[in-house]
Amino acid sequence: MPKHGQKSMAFLKRARKVIPHGVNSNFRYNGDATPVVAHAKGAYVYDFDGKRYIDYRLGYGPIILGHAHPYVNQRVQQAIEGGVTFAATQEYEVRVAERIVEMCPGVEMVRLSNSGSEATMHAIRLARAYTGRDKILKFEGCYHGGHDHVLWSTASGKLEETGDRHHPRAYKQSLGIPEILRNLIEVAPWNDIEILGDILEEKGEEIAAIILEPILGNGAALMPQLAFLQFLREQCDRYGIVLIFDEVKTGFRIAPGGAGEYFGVLPDLSTFAKALGNGYPIAAIGGKQEIMMHIGPGKVFHGGTYAGNVVATAAADATLELMQAGKVFPQIEKTGSMLMQGIEEILSRYGIPHRLHGTPGMFGITFMEENPLDWRDLHKADWELYEDIVAVMRERGVMPTSDGFEPFFLSAAHTEADVAETLEAFEAGVKQVLVKQN
Ligand SMILES: Cc1ncc(COP(=O)(O)O)c(C=O)c1O
Repeated sequence: MPKHGQKSMAFLKRARKVIPHGVNSNFRYNGDATPVVAHAKGAYVYDFDGKRYIDYRLGYGPIILGHAHPYVNQRVQQAIEGGVTFAATQEYEVRVAERIVEMCPGVEMVRLSNSGSEATMHAIRLARAYTGRDKILKFEGCYHGGHDHVLWSTASGKLEETGDRHHPRAYKQSLGIPEILRNLIEVAPWNDIEILGDILEEKGEEIAAIILEPILGNGAALMPQLAFLQFLREQCDRYGIVLIFDEVKTGFRIAPGGAGEYFGVLPDLSTFAKALGNGYPIAAIGGKQEIMMHIGPGKVFHGGTYAGNVVATAAADATLELMQAGKVFPQIEKTGSMLMQGIEEILSRYGIPHRLHGTPGMFGITFMEENPLDWRDLHKADWELYEDIVAVMRERGVMPTSDGFEPFFLSAAHTEADVAETLEAFEAGVKQVLVKQN
């Protein structure tokens, strides 16, 4: 496990006195190696001892342009001079909605929220109201936020408690979730047409929504089989189910128009967050007008005091403006591909069985011979090897997440020099692990 310097460790201890485990999200906890950041700029984060890290965690995905991006910050500073929260429709939220509609195929209308969890919560409620059905189907390994209806069978679930793959059992991911909600949830293995077909044949007409991560963003960025996405679209049409792509991680990251553009399969509703605001807290629910217009007074509730606030929408307006100007994705494509190819080359050279998954902006590595197709397969990978390599990288000032289910994220601020330095650290990690093994 990588060690913190003295000042960073002292800071973590201070945090633990007043914040359970010293973190404001369980995902950030990693014992004494829990990351601490004093400040960040571009592709780098700095700890309290002044150590610089090339950052591939990027806040778990939101930072698409780079930390503290000057243009985004300048636009936010300008905007907040005119006030930040009005409980009234303001310019920036309309601009953001217009941009999302322009960029994302199939999205005709948009409502804004503050976090990915709020977006999935509202999208599911909307689907239930639209169909008049209560049940939802989600896939094993997909994470859709912290609310009770979706915190089942997520990536950190226990394989031994999820039943066999033909009869998957929903696994409750937190204490405190009412057991009765189990009646409202069906789970299925991701990427498996046969099992999904069987479940739908029996229960398709009871299901309001199928929600999924189109790329397994909480499972080493595994890619879907195109036939799986196409099957989902067909089956949802057949049974009158609302298809929800949870694009909180993939949206505005794998392509300007997200998974709809990337795979050419369009959902009925999408949820976006993370890269939409380059780190400012904003989320969106978007989709077909026919469904979105069920939101409204006396119909489906959607709201929030801070929904569509000036700070977040000014940041998103600036972020999307840069994406639409074509400046963001070519850079990420270039550096992300270099990094993926470099890792591939090193692991092949050292004869370590491995697989790379995902896209240049968001990719994962699994140490295994066969190609994993879903969350169950991911348990066959050698995660200890992954953690040992990452520990060496962190000592050398490169910071991917130490949990290999979480992908490497790239931003437009990462340079070719950053990639070269990262590959050196990666190779050093591989060498050290091999020495330890022999
Ligand atoms: C796919 C997906 N959906 C929803 C969420 C929840 O978003 P938030 O943490 O903003 O509530 C996340 C968070 O990581 C996510 O990865």
